[in-house]
Amino acid sequence: MRILVLNGPNLNLLGTRQKSIYGNKDLDWIKDRLEKTAAELGLQIDFRQSNDEGKLVDWIGAAAGQFDGMVINPAAYTHTSVAIPDAIAAVQLPSIEVHISNVHAREEFRKHSFLAPVCVGQICGLGPDGYEWALRALHRYLSKQGEA
Ligand code: DQA
Repeated sequence: MRILVLNGPNLNLLGTRQKSIYGNKDLDWIKDRLEKTAAELGLQIDFRQSNDEGKLVDWIGAAAGQFDGMVINPAAYTHTSVAIPDAIAAVQLPSIEVHISNVHAREEFRKHSFLAPVCVGQICGLGPDGYEWALRALHRYLSKQGEA
């Protein structure tokens, strides 16, 4: 199984960005952790980050046939983008949405996700560990797909 892991804007700044909200782990730390989990589960992951909405849309659009599922932290695009959920719906890629912080306990505008309706599920508020839980959940979900 091949899993695309996408990270949206400003997640390249993790480790220094608003540590009281996002903690002190950077994106490389998250990537290392996920690669270990992927090896344990027998998955291959392709881990990417962009600040550019169009790039994220292009990556999702090109994922059909290349990946079995996706873990995505769309960051601020969660609350603004129509193009990203449209791309997920277009390629029908089973996806899990992740947020490091608990978006429901923050500003009102963060409570709405344009991606939630096109994702299998959402994990938020568990810090960087959320990526690992998302990968494990996606693996379980995809493994069960063939079952009756
Ligand atoms: C975030 C939450 C978003 O509201 C915010 O814009 C981010 C990060 C998170 O991981 O908690 O950039 O997706």
